[in-house]
Amino acid sequence: MGAVEGAAVLGQSTSNVFMTRFDDIRLLRINYLRGPNLWTYRPVLEVWLDLGRLEDHPSNLIPGFTDRLTALLPALIEHHCGVGERGGFIQRLTEGTWAGHVLEHVVIELLNLAGMPTGFGQTRSTSEHGVYRMVFRARDEQVARVALAEGHKLLMAAINNDPFGAAEVQKAVDAVKAKVEDCYLGPSTACIVGAATDRGIPHMRLNDGNLVQLGYGANQQRIWTAETDYTSAIGESIASDKELTKSLLAGCGVPVPEGQVVADADEAWDAAEDIGLPVVVKPSDANHGRGVSLELNTREEVMAAFAVAEPEGSDVMVERFIRGSEHRLLVVGGQVVAAARGEIITVTGDGRATVSELIDSQLNSDPRRGAEEEYPLDVIVLETDAKLQLELKRQDLDGNSVPATGRVVTIQRNGNMSIDCTDQVHPEVAHAAVLAARVVGLDIAGIDLVAQDIARPLHVQGGAIVEVNAGPGLLMHLKPAVGSPRPVGRAICDHLFPDDAPGRIPVVGVAGSRDTAVLSRLVAWLIGLGGRHTGLACRDGLFLERRRVDARNSANWEAGHRLLVNRAVQAVVIENGAETILRDGLAYDRCEVGIVTDLEGYEALSEFDIIESDQMVKVLRTQVDVVLPEGTAVLNAADPRVAGLAPLCDGGVIFYSTDPQAEALAKHQADGGKAVLIRQDRVVLANGASESFLPGLGRLTVWRATHVGVSLESLLAAVAAGWAMGIPLNLIGAGVEAFEADLQAALASLQLSQTLLSPEQQLA
Ligand SMILES: Nc1ncnc2c1ncn2[C@@H]1O[C@H](COP(=O)(O)OP(=O)(O)O)[C@@H](O)[C@H]1O
Ligand SMILES: [Mg+2]
Repeated sequence: MGAVEGAAVLGQSTSNVFMTRFDDIRLLRINYLRGPNLWTYRPVLEVWLDLGRLEDHPSNLIPGFTDRLTALLPALIEHHCGVGERGGFIQRLTEGTWAGHVLEHVVIELLNLAGMPTGFGQTRSTSEHGVYRMVFRARDEQVARVALAEGHKLLMAAINNDPFGAAEVQKAVDAVKAKVEDCYLGPSTACIVGAATDRGIPHMRLNDGNLVQLGYGANQQRIWTAETDYTSAIGESIASDKELTKSLLAGCGVPVPEGQVVADADEAWDAAEDIGLPVVVKPSDANHGRGVSLELNTREEVMAAFAVAEPEGSDVMVERFIRGSEHRLLVVGGQVVAAARGEIITVTGDGRATVSELIDSQLNSDPRRGAEEEYPLDVIVLETDAKLQLELKRQDLDGNSVPATGRVVTIQRNGNMSIDCTDQVHPEVAHAAVLAARVVGLDIAGIDLVAQDIARPLHVQGGAIVEVNAGPGLLMHLKPAVGSPRPVGRAICDHLFPDDAPGRIPVVGVAGSRDTAVLSRLVAWLIGLGGRHTGLACRDGLFLERRRVDARNSANWEAGHRLLVNRAVQAVVIENGAETILRDGLAYDRCEVGIVTDLEGYEALSEFDIIESDQMVKVLRTQVDVVLPEGTAVLNAADPRVAGLAPLCDGGVIFYSTDPQAEALAKHQADGGKAVLIRQDRVVLANGASESFLPGLGRLTVWRATHVGVSLESLLAAVAAGWAMGIPLNLIGAGVEAFEADLQAALASLQLSQTLLSPEQQLA
């Protein structure tokens, strides 16, 4: 049938006569893989598709399809695809590629257009005719799902030549963008997380907003937008009270504008006369410049400004107007890492257009202006902007006035920090800013400062710090209109994780199916003896040290995640069956030790299209792929396919086998590699040709009699893992000897030991 239609197309390329409609591609199953998986290291959305009749109609056999699609999404030309160069994907379209693969590129392009660039995608056929698995990198599941739904619609319209134009594409992009706004990290947080990723620091979102954990377990640091674990809650409260902040700063000799809090408009004018004109009237605890009126000179202006400020905050302040430009200095960990200067925003009259029209044509048309958070500047809406109305009134104008040609009208005096001036900041100014942050109690602070020239000390020019902000926005430093972006995300990461420490704790991943629960318990036991507060997630449950906190099968993503979030945990052991890897991905991005015991159990995995044993290699290799360069893969050399994973490991490799003659093991050892094996009824550690008995552990026949339920293979794997983690060898030997193999007995003995402790000791 494909051949017949192909022929028809060749004969009548512009005719729709032979073109029948295709039913929608069926989305059979959508699965979010939250961690490293058989496709890639990063979270992906995996979609099972049934192409239906499209299976017989690759792109080259659908008349006009490629042209229609590229007209809708011209940037597809940038997709290299497998071809590896610009235009690669278009070449595939022209030569003929299947609809699942095309959908992958459409979705990726929509994500790109929505500002969430996504490099990775793959589409593979399954054992079932017409059914494909399509995956793409998905930082956020909800965003990915919307991109998929919109891409699906777009693709079907292009296939069936349905009406679908630029407006519909824009709608699709907007839908994805709206989801990004809703569900993804804000730009400041995203930039810190991006910098963390560049440094190899893992991250996990802890809520739907901007609360993010960087690092794992006991070595984590949390950020919430630009606040951190080090940000003092008291400091934050102080910063939100401008009057209190100023008094504390003044006490340390930091220049601030003199002023006072006033109760009503008359008092405001009295204060203004006291301080000396011109003055500023502003709320004591608002932000984003709301209700702030500057350079007020008359009683009428001051009274009007009071009315603007009052509804915005709890108190109203009057203070001396400082001449100069507004500046924002970003202090991170005792250093000024970025500085920006504000622009005064004006429009220029042409004798015809009204002020409102000038605002739209000269300002709101600026691509940097937008309603969403990602835009560095806001849209100006005169109707709802009391401050702007006042600013205009003071110039004897309103929205409908028509300024004469060449007349410059001030629209906004502040809030437009867009000119980078980091390199110009005078050291004394920087010192004052750092001092201000410290006095208030903030590790990260945005210092608002007015000065004529940031390159000169404040006192020679009458400059002053007017406000200290907790959780400052970073966007102005990331997307300045003039000057270069500043690596503020990196500065915050370096502040949280000094000395190149990546915030990790040792993670041991155990993949396979044979005795892996008891193996995991034994490894956790050994690490615990080594002195670390150890968490364990395995089929036998979730454990913190020896205490079982959840008896359910915990060899899964959730349980692993729970451990990595726990701030008390200094090391974790996480068991992963093949099913976990296929369904969820791994709970951790990288690990120190990755153990693979065997490739059994494919029979239970047909729902993942695993239909033969060899496919398990691809699934379990994930465990080896994620081993850190300074880490170790521990591999069972008895199965040559498991041993064959060794080259995939970025770190070192230790082989183990109960059979010292196992070919892979012998070769590895001959090549100078490390191995754990059995000779003379004892455990032997081999470093190339040099071998030694594991100290502290006697004959295995004796040991086995008292450790029923632990196989020799598990014993060797656990010893190898302990060795890889640098646990002293005699401790490993003694630990193996003392291990309580029987879970119930272990739990009972723990209970007994706890009843002997006082309640305080139990808590500790
Ligand atoms: N006393 C002042 N003199 C001159 N300009 C000021 C003064 N107070 C505030 N401003 C200007 O108004 C802006 C907003 O005031 P600020 O106190 O920072 O309020 P917000 O909390 O709304 O940001 C400042 O960045 C600065 O440009
Ligand atoms: Mg401010």
